[in-house]
Amino acid sequence: ASSTRCKAVEATTYTREVSELADLDWDNLGFGLVQTDYMYVAKCSQNGTFSKGELQRFGPIELNPSSGVLNYGQGLFEGLKAYRKDDGFILLFRPEENALRMMMGAERMCMPSPSVEQFVDSVKLTVLANKRWVPPVGKGSLYIRPLLMGSGAVLGLAPAPEYTFLIFVSPVGNYFKEGLAPINLIVENDFHRATPGGTGGIKTIGNYASVLKAQSIAKAKGYSDVLYLDSTYKKYLEEVSSCNVFVVKDKVISTPAIKGTILPGITRKSIIDVARSRGFQVEERLVSVEELLDADEVFCTGTAVVVSPVGSITYLGRRVEYGNKGVGLVSQQLYSALTGLQMGLTEDEMGWTVKL
Ligand code: COI
Repeated sequence: ASSTRCKAVEATTYTREVSELADLDWDNLGFGLVQTDYMYVAKCSQNGTFSKGELQRFGPIELNPSSGVLNYGQGLFEGLKAYRKDDGFILLFRPEENALRMMMGAERMCMPSPSVEQFVDSVKLTVLANKRWVPPVGKGSLYIRPLLMGSGAVLGLAPAPEYTFLIFVSPVGNYFKEGLAPINLIVENDFHRATPGGTGGIKTIGNYASVLKAQSIAKAKGYSDVLYLDSTYKKYLEEVSSCNVFVVKDKVISTPAIKGTILPGITRKSIIDVARSRGFQVEERLVSVEELLDADEVFCTGTAVVVSPVGSITYLGRRVEYGNKGVGLVSQQLYSALTGLQMGLTEDEMGWTVKL
């Protein structure tokens, strides 16, 4: 604890640094790590509650080689974004939803989790300490990455005796190299992302390591990413490596229902509500891969990808195109509605944004 305390940063130090904008090429942000000034760290024993936590200079952390996260993958992550507004305020989008999802995941992974209040307060603290890294209006957002991990040492398979809750941030632009242009997906027939009874429904780190193989094969063939099918019937859509998927047909919007193998995306849930509030019929149900063949539009949703239109999907060697090489009308409408709220351009009638 004493070494952690030495690294702790006093509030007075960072308030001096945060006033101006960081020196960065704001016009060329992609989705890669830009190291910022501070990270937040809190610790907890197996059955305890998290310490108050503190800001530290961003940098490497010490981990026991025998830690639960390194040996047995006992870890979760979250993702949310902060946008800068014209009036200088910063907006967070539904941070309490990330806190609740982390709690659900922690329960499944036998980890203690921070309370909703501690999660949200520490996100706010970390964003404000790194305020100069929140991109100027229209240039991107600050991606916030909370981590929860078994940092205590274990050798036999068991929950770790100590946990670390850490938050770091990075300014980001568009997730896909296509920018806002439609992406090209391939339906994966051999690899699966999740199985019934497994951990597909929580944001555990292993879910993302296990899709790297299929993703890299797809990228080598020129696709933007992979769309996974259910592992039982190999017939129903699940999700893309880093986002949820929606299919539009005759103005009806459908998305795979949450049933334990699909990540309950916060953008997914928000898009469903936004679409319904605009009069669309939205169905959460089993969506067969065959439905891709005659869909009008397909789009993906996620914190990182926001709303990404899909330009083509290849399934068993057959390529189907959408949107006439452009962005479909429904995808465009929902993208504008959601980002309008997130960036504070339209009135937040949903009460989803948190102003800093
Ligand atoms: C997010 O959208 O925040 C995610 O967690 C996806 C990640 C693979 C970038």
